[in-house]
Amino acid sequence: MNMRPRTRSAALAVPAPAGGLILQQISLRLGGRQVLDGVSLTAAERRIGIVGRNGSGKTTLARVMAGLIAPDDGRAEVCGIDVARDRRGALGAVGILFQNPDHQIIFPTVEEEIAFGLTQMGRSRAEAAAATRAMLDRFGKGHWAGAATHSLSQGQKQLVCLMAILVMEPGLIVLDEPFSGLDIATRMQLMRCLDAVEATVALITHDPEPLTGFDRVIWLEGGKVIGDGPPDQVLDRFGRQMRIWGGQDDLSDLPG
Ligand SMILES: Nc1ncnc2c1ncn2[C@@H]1O[C@H](COP(=O)(O)OP(=O)(O)O)[C@@H](O)[C@H]1O
Ligand SMILES: [Mg+2]
Repeated sequence: MNMRPRTRSAALAVPAPAGGLILQQISLRLGGRQVLDGVSLTAAERRIGIVGRNGSGKTTLARVMAGLIAPDDGRAEVCGIDVARDRRGALGAVGILFQNPDHQIIFPTVEEEIAFGLTQMGRSRAEAAAATRAMLDRFGKGHWAGAATHSLSQGQKQLVCLMAILVMEPGLIVLDEPFSGLDIATRMQLMRCLDAVEATVALITHDPEPLTGFDRVIWLEGGKVIGDGPPDQVLDRFGRQMRIWGGQDDLSDLPG
């Protein structure tokens, strides 16, 4: 499935921009706690950062954006697909990369891992194998095809997970703190790989540093959007607020 605008009822339908993201009043309670509280935004930018301290709801929002959890209220739309209702459509529209690749990788070899999503989307084994080869070649990693996934480093595993997402050609890639376990050099290499990605990237991080060249930054706090704008403006306020909170002694105020 690709995410090019549909031609069906072209006279009526307004095609969503590639990677177009629309969140309408998303609310979600988990374990008796209001984790997301009326999150609304419309984004057509290619590089979007999502910041917020621990427990602000970033991972939960990522899961909602990928259609992995349905919100109690509201609607999440990516490339014109209601991701909570159209699971198959969501598979092609959004790819999500989690913090720990060990929670994501399920196959013994790199090529099986990368090909899996394509077969899930209904591609033949031959098509999936050819696309997998092409993806590995694109990153100069053709020699990884038969490698055992468990033998890779964290950074290499993260790259395999990224390739497994890219091969499905989603309009939106959500990355949930993908750099946390990585050293600075590996982080820079992965960031360069991301620079080359045509899809919309929503990068979730508590570290503002990788977001400097981004088009837009959303700041989430207590499940609400409390900042939204160009990185220099939002990150400056975010940094100042973090220093204020960091300077306070009351650990009981820290979110869970
Ligand atoms: N399945 C769940 N059940 C109960 N509480 C949850 C669940 N998932 C997340 N939470 C709570 O929701 C809040 C936000 O979590 P999360 O989205 O992981 O935040 P972040 O990624 O910003 O650290 C936290 O207080 C967390 O404990
Ligand atoms: Mg998180």
